Amino acid sequence: MNDLIKKTIFSLVLLFLIISGCTGRKSDSTNIQETPAASTMDNLALTPPMGWNSWNPFGMNVSEKVIRETADAMVSSGLMDAGFTYIVIDDYWQGTRDTTTGILSCNPDRFPSGIKTLADYVHSKGLKFGIYSDAGTMTCGDNPGSYGYEENDAKMFAGWGIDYLKYDYCYCPDYGSENNDYKMAIGRYRTMGDALKATHRPIIYSICEWGPRSPWLWGKEVGGHLWRISYDVGDKWDEPRNEHSQIGILTAIDAMTDLERFAGPGGWNDPDMLVIGLKNEGFIKGGGCSDEEYRTQMSMWCMFSAPLILGCDVRNMTETTKSILLNKDIISIDQDSLGKQAFRVLRLDGMEAWKKPLSGNRIAMAFLNRNSRAGFISVTLEQLELDPNVDYEAYDVWKHETVKQPEGGMAVTLKPHECYVFILTE
Ligand code: GLA
Repeated sequence: MNDLIKKTIFSLVLLFLIISGCTGRKSDSTNIQETPAASTMDNLALTPPMGWNSWNPFGMNVSEKVIRETADAMVSSGLMDAGFTYIVIDDYWQGTRDTTTGILSCNPDRFPSGIKTLADYVHSKGLKFGIYSDAGTMTCGDNPGSYGYEENDAKMFAGWGIDYLKYDYCYCPDYGSENNDYKMAIGRYRTMGDALKATHRPIIYSICEWGPRSPWLWGKEVGGHLWRISYDVGDKWDEPRNEHSQIGILTAIDAMTDLERFAGPGGWNDPDMLVIGLKNEGFIKGGGCSDEEYRTQMSMWCMFSAPLILGCDVRNMTETTKSILLNKDIISIDQDSLGKQAFRVLRLDGMEAWKKPLSGNRIAMAFLNRNSRAGFISVTLEQLELDPNVDYEAYDVWKHETVKQPEGGMAVTLKPHECYVFILTE
């Protein structure tokens, strides 16, 4: 078959698939989404994206049913109103790639109505819809990747009404020499970034290279709105960085340290998704965390202006999980318009103080106890790099009240692995 015939077949099949949803088994009547101007892409993610992703709770068991029920639960639980708007299907939505046409289909058993129909459903709830692919020949779960098909896939995703793409880095050759390795990653991410821009649809571009090639240095330049800075976070408190296993919450906190200058409106350091509420019952495991540890993940991710991507089964949340995820005060710190990532100002016997400038001349201050024993920290305003002449008012974002603090300083008693967060106003 010559190239012209191949291209013509591809275009016709692509058009058909866009209109009918990916399997073509069932067509639906919704038209292709309107396509706003390209400049809209640059105004995306002015605050860190918030949503839900299927990987942590469902992994390879994701399905159309799960996504629909999750969309319903995001609305009924109040998560959508709290700002969690993106529903992202991670790996395992794919079927096969037709090597003649290049068309990638979805898994017809788990997604019988096709992706477009599902995206329409999610949109009808007022939510946004995201999908996953990979810069290599295959995804991390051995499904077809987008390498060599970036333009085709981007067009197809845009036609389906996708608002967010998580783009992984499995099955990319390891070039050995550091420089070439960097160049390859930048090149591959730029190719997809350009392809997404060319669709003129505002699509959040989530770079998932895990950190070894420092994506904070080039993520924004290739069109990214967020970039993973570390390996997958498991449902566990602490485990050192290791390419082949999931890391703990504390390990991810450490990986975020000193990266504050690379985050800001439009582009964010991503320490991975939330494990809050998994209780070792999700697809990804790790032994589970205490509610205190989950609360600490929420606190520190918000201090970091990290993307808040939920990773639990939102159809079945405990009251405690809901109270952590729906805390509007802590979310307001994450979504603050200044978009500053917290930096550490103090470390004392396993206790730490983190500071994040907020809009309106306010400051968020977090105290973290890394130790597995309770602890007490009492420090002066100078030690916290605060103005000793100001009588700050301290609002406790977990108690939702203004609390008294010692004159000229701050003091807190912390449970093991606990994190206290205050908003300080002059
Ligand atoms: C990688 C990513 C995860 C998830 C899986 C899917 O491990 O880091 O977040 O997307 O792939 O296979």
